[in-house]
Order: sequence, then structure tokens, then C-alpha cells
Amino acid sequence: MLSLKAATSPLWLQQVDRDLPAILIDHAHCEKKAAGTAMNLLFAYGTIEPKVSRELSDIIVEELDHFRLVLDVLEGRAIRFTAQKPSAYGRRLNELVRKGEPHRAIDRMLVASLIEARSCERFALLRDHVPDRELAEFYGSLFESEARHHSTYVQLAGYFGSEEDIRHRLEELSAEEAEIIREGDDLPRMHG
Ligand SMILES: [Fe+2]
Ligand SMILES: [Fe+2]
Repeated sequence: MLSLKAATSPLWLQQVDRDLPAILIDHAHCEKKAAGTAMNLLFAYGTIEPKVSRELSDIIVEELDHFRLVLDVLEGRAIRFTAQKPSAYGRRLNELVRKGEPHRAIDRMLVASLIEARSCERFALLRDHVPDRELAEFYGSLFESEARHHSTYVQLAGYFGSEEDIRHRLEELSAEEAEIIREGDDLPRMHG
């Protein structure tokens, strides 16, 4: 699904069951980071094409909206939005970004696309798993927009390289992403 080469292990859902509040807090951080990533990309590449700035600003607005929705969920459960050590996932993916343009632009877009794809996969798992129906529906409602963000980022990468380059690099990066996911993370996190 969505260029992903490894499915989430059932062990991850055990982590969710053990510490749902930690997952919810991390989810809020992830939505905030997703908005920040799109904003950074808008600053770096927004003037390349009007379509690039349009797509990225749409993503910023949607991710900030998701962030606010997760803050509502936290508030409704009396969970405080606190600082929390992130999983190694984002850092490890960002370390794969090549230096020098246009490779850097391609990789930043494709890494963002893979993070969106993984979020999408996990939201579907949470939708089908969490006993709280309201929360399950909330995850279901986010699924579609993260799937769309995934394909938008792949398309945006296309402004910086040939279709063949993008396809090849997405293959490489998704193999790396799958490896990181297979290793898992001790911390209960959205992308752990
Ligand atoms: Fe989001
Ligand atoms: Fe997203």
C-alpha cells in the first residue's frame, strides 16, 4: 500500500494498548511537525512553480487543522500536551536526504511522502483497533487526507527530476523506511 514495503508489526498495537496517552501526545507532535515540514519546503521551493506553493500551503493548513483536532482529543481526555522524546523514525529518514540540489529537494519530498504513507497505514490500524468508537472514527477521518498528502509529495518531487529518477529513488527510500519500521522502537510512538 502507498509505496510501503513493510506492514506494521502487531507488536506496535500492543504498545498502543499499553500507553495510548503517549501515542496521542506523539500524534499531536507529528501533525505539528507535518505542518512545519510543509512550511520549510514552502520556504525552500515555493517559488519554483505556482503549483508547488499552492500544494504546500494547502498541506500546511490541513496539518495545522489536524494538530488542533488532536489537541481537542487530548483536552477531552484531560491529557496534557507535553514535550516527549520522539521516536528515531523521522531523524533516521531525514539522515537519508542527499546533499546538493536537485537531489535534496527530491529526497525531502519523498521522505515527506513516506511519512504520510506510514501515518496513513497506522491511522487505518488504529481505526480498526481502538475500542473507543469516537477515537476510531477520528482516525478513520484522517486516513484520506494523509493518503492524499502522500501522493501530492510524490508529485511535487516530480518537479525536480524525471519520472524514472523519482520512481527509482522512492524504491530506495521506501526500502530504507521498511527497515527502520521492522526494527521498531521501544517508545510507544505514532511512527515507532
Ligand atoms: Fe495530518
Ligand atoms: Fe499529512
